[in-house]
Amino acid sequence: MCSIIGYKGQFIEAAPLLVESLKKMEYRGYDSVGIATMNNGKILISKGVGKVAEVDKILEFAKLPGQIGIGHTRWATHGGVSDKNAHPHFSCNSDIAVVHNGIIENYQELKEKLSKEGHIFKSQTDSEVIPHLLEKYCKEFNNDYKKSIIYTCKILKGSFAFVAIFKNGLICGARFDEPLIIGIANSALFLSSDVLGFLKHTDKAIFLDNGDIVTIDNNKYSIFDINNKKVIRPITQVAWELGSTEKGKYAHHTLKEIHEQPSILFNSINKNNDFQQFCKFIKNASNVYITGSGTSYHSGLLAKNLLAKFAKIKSEVIMSSEFQYMSDTLETNSAIIAISQSGETADVIHAVKKAKEHGSKILSIINISTSSLARISDSVLVLNCGPEIGVAATKSFIGQLMIIYNVVNLLSGNQLSLNKINQKKLVTDIEKTLELDEKIKTIVSMLDSEIKDIYILGRSLHYSIALEGSLKIKELAYIHAEGIAAGELKHGPLALIDAKSLVIVINPVDETYKDVISSTHEIKSRGAKIIGISNKNHELYDNYLQIPESIDHLYPIVEVIPLQIMAYYLSLKMQVDPDYPRNLAKSVTVK
Ligand code: G6P
Repeated sequence: MCSIIGYKGQFIEAAPLLVESLKKMEYRGYDSVGIATMNNGKILISKGVGKVAEVDKILEFAKLPGQIGIGHTRWATHGGVSDKNAHPHFSCNSDIAVVHNGIIENYQELKEKLSKEGHIFKSQTDSEVIPHLLEKYCKEFNNDYKKSIIYTCKILKGSFAFVAIFKNGLICGARFDEPLIIGIANSALFLSSDVLGFLKHTDKAIFLDNGDIVTIDNNKYSIFDINNKKVIRPITQVAWELGSTEKGKYAHHTLKEIHEQPSILFNSINKNNDFQQFCKFIKNASNVYITGSGTSYHSGLLAKNLLAKFAKIKSEVIMSSEFQYMSDTLETNSAIIAISQSGETADVIHAVKKAKEHGSKILSIINISTSSLARISDSVLVLNCGPEIGVAATKSFIGQLMIIYNVVNLLSGNQLSLNKINQKKLVTDIEKTLELDEKIKTIVSMLDSEIKDIYILGRSLHYSIALEGSLKIKELAYIHAEGIAAGELKHGPLALIDAKSLVIVINPVDETYKDVISSTHEIKSRGAKIIGISNKNHELYDNYLQIPESIDHLYPIVEVIPLQIMAYYLSLKMQVDPDYPRNLAKSVTVK
């Protein structure tokens, strides 16, 4: 949602370093950006609307002096996108500046109260109550900073993490249902929403727990809870996250991540030792539920199909944002498979917490091994696909699928034939499919630039891919796209099809082939343009994207690739930045 960073060093100027950190975490929100530094007992703030590099060009953040500072990238929730609403926010006396991630639910009530007491608010954000509360308590408690921070955390309701800088050079942070991590370098300390904020400088991190408050003074950190009780947290060495976050030879992170897929394909299987334990939980469960949001939800849909088809295990997939409405019916001894690239999506975390209250076991499939979801799970399988920077999930989807395929393979007595030979072939198949890049680029260039609707059809396992393909097109190109279960076409969606429609049919030769061809006839006779994704060409297709012949149930892993590439080129055609779609954030940490 938003990214927050705090830095207290001894030798290096804070501002340029904060800008670098914010660029790395920009995936979390990118509508505005700001920095505050402390120099000679004075706090200086610079902030504006736009992405980090754009705003930096205008405001030249590096001009802010000081070796202590905080920074923020915003994804607006309360208050529009404006310079005033950008963080950091000052207290009235400008002695305290704050950056915040999350939502303060009782901010209206607090704002009214503080205003009556004479505090003047300059923004429409919920966040601004924090510096004013800190100021109020500092005054009341005679500059007892620790007490002021504790009192502030006690009065705030909602999910939040914040970092505050005081004019005496103290930095503090608090973690209440939003991530906050301490980075420990040789001569500097960081407070950050993500390890990416400080990985260039150190791989030593402390993952704060909910309710932890931290102060950084004289280059020492101290962690305590809301009752002022000292808390000790282990120092973790961050490992895989050191993977590259650069674009390399590619124009965009999204394109790079699409092309990385063959190389990361089996990382999720080869680098996890906990498959047996994960499967045991599923076998022992009275009921199996699967939850996730966005792309991860689509992986869940495929998981449900595969579990039923091959392992004869019944499961129910529930979008994480809908989970709370049915959680009262959860049977004890249920297993919840929670899927999330980030492991921080608020809807997923909320669903899992609800399930835990009902005694369910939490089995998670995540990319960030140190995420909040990982820490509340009974069993964790990690994608190991390296950092995914593009907001739209691509390689993490494939990583999730591989874990799901392996789990089902184990639960079904190897019925998915994931032996070494087939694994190798799958890698080659994906490499070959990536070669469609130029062809897809040409097809997209010839599409009507006024295109308004795209429909993607698939049956059975391919339906989840149709949904995922349409999500990619929506996210990356802002074009209305809809995944349709091909059999449902005649029950409504056919009314939408006319000569202006573009329909993509996912139709490899398997048990669904003939029925999908029938649907394709129905579409063709309404004059729509048809793109076929299949291992076999057909006269009905206006354009044909050939994928290699495969084992039936492995097609989904390959057929999603042309859809990802198409979404990418559509975004370029629409002249939008595929890495940072408008209004979206990669890690949505608010409900
Ligand atoms: C956001 C992103 C989606 C992503 C979803 C779930 O909404 O914009 O692209 O699929 O979160 O993210 P997760 O990290 O839980 O997989």
